[in-house]
Amino acid sequence: MKTGTPAELAELLKQAVAPVALTGAGISVESGIPSFRGPHGLWTRYDPMEYAHIQAFLTNPAKVWKLLRELDDTITRARPNPAHVALARLEEMGRLRGIITQNVDNLHQEAGSRNVIEFHGNARQFVCLGCGRAFDPQTLDFTQVPLYCSCQGLIKPDIVFFGEEIPPAANRAAFELAEACDLMLVIGTSAAVMPANYLPYTAKKHGASIVEINLETTDLTRRLTDYYFDAPASQVLSETVALLTGKGIG
Ligand code: APR
Repeated sequence: MKTGTPAELAELLKQAVAPVALTGAGISVESGIPSFRGPHGLWTRYDPMEYAHIQAFLTNPAKVWKLLRELDDTITRARPNPAHVALARLEEMGRLRGIITQNVDNLHQEAGSRNVIEFHGNARQFVCLGCGRAFDPQTLDFTQVPLYCSCQGLIKPDIVFFGEEIPPAANRAAFELAEACDLMLVIGTSAAVMPANYLPYTAKKHGASIVEINLETTDLTRRLTDYYFDAPASQVLSETVALLTGKGIG
């Protein structure tokens, strides 16, 4: 593993035939959405097994909605930051095939990215666990949580709780992208959660170079990262896009 520079990342993106990005909560921290792990992470305030496991939601939905309401307020207020915008720009320039995101905040789409695989779902969509009916959040009264469907089923944000499977279509699309890519940008993830953290290994096994952008080292850094950037995602990605578009830095 070597410490990379934006100039090297720009060159890697120029040479790559099928670059993809895998993003985690760290890319949205600069939009005001707390990460899960680390000193101020959400899991330092909420036990994920009590607040983010499907069994917890089924047995005590009112308690889990306490976390969901906090998440919803934070996500509603959040806007894409320069890191999200830079990835959308790369896709526009034909320098990024797509993004596999573990985030549920919709910020990649709001930044203009089109090929976004939501590995853990989307917190802005709601579904009935009984009949599968989808609900527009505008039609739901969040002052009356827990929410129930007319079929008496429990309504849940369409996000993957611990203990739930990854949506099969997203899982398939993500691993296909990881197998086909020759460069994977792994941005703002502790790589602590399966099966998302298998994706960089899949990419590497199929010959891809791994670039990791994170403020801390992870298991990936030691095992398979080729270029490590110890800097905020918005800074690294904005500088790289500036070099690719010839706009210079600053
Ligand atoms: N730029 C780059 N990396 C950052 C930044 C930043 N500005 N800020 C934080 N990070 C890094 C942290 O160092 C950390 O390694 O982002 C990572 C966030 O890690 P987690 O909080 O574990 O988030 P994530 O990896 O996305 O978690 C995966 O776990 O709880 C589940 O479903 C949840 O999707 C989530 C999954």
